[in-house]
Amino acid sequence: AQLRHEIAQELARQKAVLVAHYYTDPVIQALAEQTGGCVADSLEMARFGKNHKASTLLVAGVRFMGETAKILSPEKRILMPTLEATCSLDLGCPVDEFSAFCDQHPDRTVVVYANTSAAVKARADWVVTSSCAVEVVESLMDNGEKIIWAPDQHLGRYVQRETGADMLLWDSACIVHEEFKAKQLADMKALYPEAAVLVHPESPESIIELADAVGSTSQLIKAAQTLPNPLFIVATDRGIFYKMQQLCPNKQFIEAPTAGQGATCRSCAHCPWMAMNTLESVLQTLRTGQNEVFVDPALIPRAIKPLQRMLNFTQ
Ligand code: 13P
Ligand code: SF4
Repeated sequence: AQLRHEIAQELARQKAVLVAHYYTDPVIQALAEQTGGCVADSLEMARFGKNHKASTLLVAGVRFMGETAKILSPEKRILMPTLEATCSLDLGCPVDEFSAFCDQHPDRTVVVYANTSAAVKARADWVVTSSCAVEVVESLMDNGEKIIWAPDQHLGRYVQRETGADMLLWDSACIVHEEFKAKQLADMKALYPEAAVLVHPESPESIIELADAVGSTSQLIKAAQTLPNPLFIVATDRGIFYKMQQLCPNKQFIEAPTAGQGATCRSCAHCPWMAMNTLESVLQTLRTGQNEVFVDPALIPRAIKPLQRMLNFTQ
């Protein structure tokens, strides 16, 4: 309680706002809500940060979220509780290799997931998140465009199936969503026939096939509210349960099965990088001003274009 009180005081004193992702620790999500910040999916975090008048944003999430905030608002001070929190998709798409791949296919429109570095975004025509990927690719396809998609192969394949677009896929994956297991999920579904299955599209195809709803974190939360089922099996990071339970107090949520459990699996249903955001690191960052996010100023004018396209498209 003392920590939370001190953080709220520091935020007010510095006219800073806390922007948190649904996968962060519930205490951080609650604090963001209580202090006038926001808890959101990655698209909404980007929009909120850009539109908010605060001169300092404290972004609780992973590195690409802080970088996106900086690219969209270079004049703001962007802090993160840790600068070490990366993402396996970002790591799996080094800019040199990616750029060379794009150079080999100059006839293709380059669409990248938000979970990428600023340098990769600067090489792209479009940035998307999972909440708008299908719609963006559909409209490009209607325009007769062929696509390079990076880095998440599972989301890419899902978008390809949904749209029928001509897409060349990069082959990275999310270490959290890759752990969900189809056979065990089918067994669990059979055990709880009243349950609906909610799946983030970073999951493998065999998991998506078993879903009653597929979507970004925000879309899955919406599905939990609108579907009539009393029980939900959720194939994404368990941090999302905080908001689902808050909005649906009379419904029950359980984790989709993974191969390992607890200590035997570092990334089972919980992102190890999201977990690096703690109340202590939030307070420490506010007190010291350390962990400021900087993006190479030469990249910003190029990286902002595909990001702004995404924001305009989803308005
Ligand atoms: P959302 O855009 O659905 O919030 O997902 C971000 C992310 O990193 C999922 O793993
Ligand atoms: Fe990246 Fe997966 Fe963690 Fe999301 S959950 S930040 S995609 S590693």
